[in-house]
Amino acid sequence: MSGAVVIGAQWGDEGKGKIVDLLAERFEIVARYQGGNNAGHTVVHGDETFKFHLLPSGILEPDKICILGNGVVIDPEVLVGELDALEARGRSTAGLRISMNAHVIMPWHRLLDQQSEVSLGSLQIGTTRRGIGPAYADKASRVGIRVQDLFDLGILQKKVAAALAIRNREILRGRDQGPLYPNKVVEELAPFAARLQPYAADTSLLIDQALKAGKRVLFEGAQGTLLDLDNGTYPFVTSSNPIAGGACTGTGVGPTKIDSVLGIAKAYLTRVGAGPFPSEADEERGAKIRDIGAEFGTTTGRERRCGWLDLVGLRYAVRLNGLTELVLTKLDVLSEFASIPVCVAYRLPDGTITEEFPAHQSDFHHAEPVWEERPGWNADISDATEWDQLPQAARDYVEWVADQLGIPVTLVGVGVRRDQVLAPHGMEAVARSAR
Ligand code: GDP
Ligand code: IMO
Ligand code: MG
Repeated sequence: MSGAVVIGAQWGDEGKGKIVDLLAERFEIVARYQGGNNAGHTVVHGDETFKFHLLPSGILEPDKICILGNGVVIDPEVLVGELDALEARGRSTAGLRISMNAHVIMPWHRLLDQQSEVSLGSLQIGTTRRGIGPAYADKASRVGIRVQDLFDLGILQKKVAAALAIRNREILRGRDQGPLYPNKVVEELAPFAARLQPYAADTSLLIDQALKAGKRVLFEGAQGTLLDLDNGTYPFVTSSNPIAGGACTGTGVGPTKIDSVLGIAKAYLTRVGAGPFPSEADEERGAKIRDIGAEFGTTTGRERRCGWLDLVGLRYAVRLNGLTELVLTKLDVLSEFASIPVCVAYRLPDGTITEEFPAHQSDFHHAEPVWEERPGWNADISDATEWDQLPQAARDYVEWVADQLGIPVTLVGVGVRRDQVLAPHGMEAVARSAR
């Protein structure tokens, strides 16, 4: 066994992309297993900044196989755009492999995502409007278009017509939009299909063969645990399974092949889109975190809502993902706070205090945070190159979190760059079980 999973332990944007980029050199394959271009990962390499939406964050590492697994939903135009942009910057994309079973985001998915948000009005989810939910809905309804369908335009035309026979009815209800025509949809898709064909592969088999040959595979999750369709803060969630279990269904490997699960969490908390957020900061301090942490969405540019670390949510992430270790990013962002509130429990409407994530949505919606103030360190830590160089209070914060969760913190982020990551237990302790 030598599979490790990287997951978001909060509501996304924890810095997964940066950590996958950093760890990729130690794995032969990086495989993304769910989500689509709702994801946005910023990866800083020297003085170059890359933003990925669909490509696995290991793509910058030379000579790696980077997989888009069957659980990913792919917008062909967006993917081709990313490939072209990367190649224009002199980077190779030859290592990319796309699962033939991955589903395709079609033009009607984008339309329906927008229409559904508009019709929900004040109840809207705040989706990225990239067509993610409708694409997964078509997959579950068994009228979805898969990557393998793109390579025979005759088959594609038939499947598009079958799907549109259903979805055009919904589109027309939106009034400001006429129906979509199958031949036009296929005609527009054809050039992207041709461009992607060389990358298509049986990726489940590829991963199995690699694992059998003793190679290491890093499974990359997008979004985060609390956005998980089954276990997150429903209905304010995405439409896939970002939790570690999704790595199996989303790439076609069995759970016995995975031995490390790394949860990525910020040293505080953010959320994009609507939904409850018990540890959300007051306006002034929220704006300060947003300012220092540059908390604006990579995909939509929206302001991220900012708050404090929520140990109830993180404990839940430890449980749902079977986390073996935690990576705490953006510790540097807290340097300017004299004292740092952390939500250690919830007070429920009936007065109960709980450390466990509420099973009932109404309890969560009305949960009040129980705070514990942790001392700040009032010093710039972004230049630290060794764990020991951090002020005692900063080390205490990290160790206290590890203690509360019962798992080690193996990496700590102190800045955007690749080298601004500290390993409290040494690099050899990171994803240890996957070697
Ligand atoms: P992802 O979606 O989980 O990959 O995360 P995003 O890329 O959307 O958001 C994380 C942001 O934080 C990016 O802009 C990163 O460059 C940045 N970042 C990552 N780690 C650190 C860190 O340790 N300190 C600081 N200041 N920024 C970080
Ligand atoms: P990464 O991979 C943060 C949020 C949206 C919305 C909800 C549903 O960068 O961490 P969707 O378009 O998926 O149907 O929107 O999920 N969301 C994210 N929030 N980071 C992400 O990805 C997200 N992907 C989706 O804001 O609230
Ligand atoms: Mg992101």
